[in-house]
Parts: sequence; C-alpha cells; structure tokens
Amino acid sequence: MIRPLLRMGNPLLLQRAAEVESLGTPELLALIDDMRDTMRAAQGVGLAAPQIGVSLRVVIFGVQSSPRYPDAAPVPETVLINPVLTRLTDATEDGWEGCLSVPGMRGLVPRYTRLHYRGTDEHGHIIERIAEDFHARVVQHECDHLDGILYPARIRDMTQFGFNEELFPGQDLQDD
Ligand code: NI
Repeated sequence: MIRPLLRMGNPLLLQRAAEVESLGTPELLALIDDMRDTMRAAQGVGLAAPQIGVSLRVVIFGVQSSPRYPDAAPVPETVLINPVLTRLTDATEDGWEGCLSVPGMRGLVPRYTRLHYRGTDEHGHIIERIAEDFHARVVQHECDHLDGILYPARIRDMTQFGFNEELFPGQDLQDD
C-alpha cells in the first residue's frame, strides 16, 4: 500500500527512531511492503520508515539505474534494519541530494566516500557490506533519517540548496 510521505517540518522526521525488536513479524513485513510500494510510486532510490510515519530503524534502498544519477553504479536492492555504519575514511565528497520529504529541492551534501554497514534484513539475516561513493551516499542519507537528520542539515554552503527548476533549469528532476 502506498502511504503518504511526511515532509520536512513534521516533528516525527526529527526524532531518533526506535530499534526493531522482533524480526519476521507480519507487522514488519507489511511495513516493508508499504515502504517498497511508496518508494517505487515516488521513483525514489531509498526510503526510511519515519518518512511514512513509523519511527523504527528500517531503511530500504536500491537502484539499477537512475536518470537523476546517470554516473552512479547500481546499488543492490536492500532492506536494512537496525543499521550500524562505520566510516572507513575521513574523505568526503560533495554530491547533489534530494529527498522525498523535501520535494522539489536539491542540495549539495558532503558524505564519506567509503564505509562499512551492518544490519539485518526483515527475516534477521545479517547484511554486512562495504560501500563506496553513490552507494555509501545513499546509505548515509537513509540512515540519517533514523537519527532525525534531514540532508539540509548537512549542507555546508547554503548557496548550494534550492529548487530543482532553479538549480537545474530544463532538467526533469524528480525527488528521491
Ligand atoms: Ni530522504
């Protein structure tokens, strides 16, 4: 079921989401189905549970190819619960981000270029990976949602934040 997306300003997006205690439950599987439906309908590359009003540490992400990120390597379709991120470099790179909770806008956000992440899928199977570049960016963006952080809070130069049509005239950009 496609669920309404909370937008920036909703206090739930600023909360630290709670750990998921029980894996494989019908409630959790239904939540993930709704997250997938909602992300696909919005053509997003990632979604965190708080964005549909559920304050739990669940994110989904994945993209084969995105017209918005034509140079990005594919990111595996992933359900990640109770994620723990460990950065593997101090190096950051600026990249343009959008968010389904900040529709119509883009901002230039620094992210670590290489990290390790660990969590489980919805059935409790361990997921453990090293991610770089766009994959690492997506994971950092989605996991930030679980700590109540929206990407505008990460922007260093606020001249690099604005509406898609103003920043990138003539491009048909959607939100993610
Ligand atoms: Ni987002």
